[in-house]
Amino acid sequence: MLKEVNASRYITPLREGGSLPGLVEADDLGTYVMKFTGAGQGRKTLVAEVVCGELARRLGLRVPGLVTIGLDPVLGLGEPDQEVQELLKSSGGPNLGMDFLPRAIGFDPLAFEVSAREAGRIVWFDALVNNVDRSWRNPNLLMWHGELWLIDHGATMIWHHHWPGAETSAAKPYDISDHALAPFGPDIAAAAAELAPRITEDLLAEVTAEIPDAWLAGEPGFDTVDELRRAYARPLLARAAVIHERIKGIDGSEGDR
Ligand SMILES: Nc1ncnc2c1ncn2[C@@H]1O[C@H](COP(=O)(O)OP(=O)(O)O)[C@@H](O)[C@H]1O
Ligand SMILES: [Mg+2]
Repeated sequence: MLKEVNASRYITPLREGGSLPGLVEADDLGTYVMKFTGAGQGRKTLVAEVVCGELARRLGLRVPGLVTIGLDPVLGLGEPDQEVQELLKSSGGPNLGMDFLPRAIGFDPLAFEVSAREAGRIVWFDALVNNVDRSWRNPNLLMWHGELWLIDHGATMIWHHHWPGAETSAAKPYDISDHALAPFGPDIAAAAAELAPRITEDLLAEVTAEIPDAWLAGEPGFDTVDELRRAYARPLLARAAVIHERIKGIDGSEGDR
């Protein structure tokens, strides 16, 4: 289970992305980037953040710590911004929090160097979870204390939006022409050899156990939350073994850059 804290103060919205995450202070005195169940994409985005964030961390990639943040909608009453007020009012219960990395800067592929090994590990991971949000336009990578950190895994695992087609969808290739790390000669073969054997049923059970029940309950087609947890694990397990052979756009083409 993720650590549970409660929001004590809404500090400010982070207006960069579309989902209006907010900076909040919690009752453990931590500062978190908070993502709301009441935001446009709803709770599946938060499930994706937990599955991918916790999986990446266990593979040795850097991901800021995740917690659940309990929210009392009363916190929204004092908000002058109508949009923020609505968001807080519609997000009672557990939301997602991510450790805020103070003074982190957005990764710029033209300003930083990344080794072929690290690029390969991140590209392979993004291919595994089918992350469509790591392009050079919008890398969702932060530089902090000289190292790369992965954030924003909400737009991954597209198959969880249509479970009956999950198997077919998960068999599809992954195109890296636009990936922020494609220019760094990612060593995908080395990453696959190292990481694929580590994606086991046990590891995925451990990762999916971190998803709060409240974000899984009542999913059409599933009788229990654990059945849904296993549905998250299956495509990832199948994909891990083969995805390195299905990565497209490695031939030096850099998309429409
Ligand atoms: N853990 C963090 N530490 C510092 N800044 C962050 C963190 N997470 C997000 N941010 C900042 O907030 C922005 C929006 O967060 P992100 O997770 O990408 O949400 P969105 O879904 O809105 O794109 C990021 O581009 C980054 O500038
Ligand atoms: Mg983002």
